[in-house]
Amino acid sequence: MIVHEPVMVRQVLEVLDIRPGDTVLDCTLGEGGHTAHFLEKASCGIVIGIEQDEEVLARAKERFREQEDRFIPVQGNFSSLQKIVANHTGSQVDRIFFDLGISMYHFKESGRGFSFSKNEPLDMRLDRSRAMSAADVVNGFDEKKLAEIVWAYGEERFSNQIAAAIVRRRKLKQITMSKELADIVMEAVPKRFWPKSIHPATKTFQAVRIFVNDEIEILEKALRDGIDTLKEGGRMCVISFHSLEDRIVKSLFRELAKGCTCPPDFPVCVCGKRKVVKVLTKKPLIAQQEEVGVNPASRSARLRCALKLTNDAAFLASMKVTA
Ligand SMILES: C[S@@+](CC[C@H](N)C(=O)[O-])C[C@H]1O[C@@H](n2cnc3c(N)ncnc32)[C@H](O)[C@@H]1O
Repeated sequence: MIVHEPVMVRQVLEVLDIRPGDTVLDCTLGEGGHTAHFLEKASCGIVIGIEQDEEVLARAKERFREQEDRFIPVQGNFSSLQKIVANHTGSQVDRIFFDLGISMYHFKESGRGFSFSKNEPLDMRLDRSRAMSAADVVNGFDEKKLAEIVWAYGEERFSNQIAAAIVRRRKLKQITMSKELADIVMEAVPKRFWPKSIHPATKTFQAVRIFVNDEIEILEKALRDGIDTLKEGGRMCVISFHSLEDRIVKSLFRELAKGCTCPPDFPVCVCGKRKVVKVLTKKPLIAQQEEVGVNPASRSARLRCALKLTNDAAFLASMKVTA
């Protein structure tokens, strides 16, 4: 059995600064790699762990069987985090953690076609109750929409060629297996343009997976809901693995860290905007070389953290001082 190795644990514990007794919301529980540290090293009070994949959640439940009194596993989507927190604690939480994307289990063991190096049914759903699988997307969407998906969520410059190749192939036969999709992409991208450090189908697989699981569209609202759900003085830490996600985290934190937007020559503030957070990571933290050496998945991890200001501090910070 493959166990997912949690990334950037030292930095996560440092920036989250969990206090004994804190309630922590782990929005992407996975098999509980980070949660184990929250429970054991950081001696928090309880962890509420949200996971949308019931097979992965079952593993986490088994892992923390003996800590039932401090661990609340919830099958669900972090897009409903406010409802989940309200149902389980009835109040706000002290720390919120996101470790976006998918787990090693999905690549290595799920059998759902997340990896281009395995020949598995092309499914890619994290939550199996979702209506649309990866096979439905590649066989059902028109060429223009396919190209848009591969470009928007994979930033793949050969998106048009890949979409055209998918449509040509499926006229002969439905595309049902991951290896078939990987081969189509490899044929569509001229060999001289194959990337040096990643498989030529990496970006296309990422794009289809993101689309199938609606990963980008829900993120900004979930982060906003998370900030609303944090107690004053609480912290939110987000690890993302590609630029699309990191951009959303960065620009939301920046927006919430801005106070008054009135022109500088206004004697008093009329916009009423207050600073909601202080960004604790001006630049994203990245994994250290030693970690990348033993856990290559950490190579693209970007960690950002924000502190929710108290109302008084936010008010004072956004007050204009006029000479
Ligand atoms: C990178 S893994 C987390 C690994 C975990 N931190 C660990 O170290 O064991 C991300 C997990 O979040 C889950 N996930 C992704 N998007 C989700 C969402 N919108 N709601 C709930 N769970 C989600 C995935 O199924 C996956 O198991």
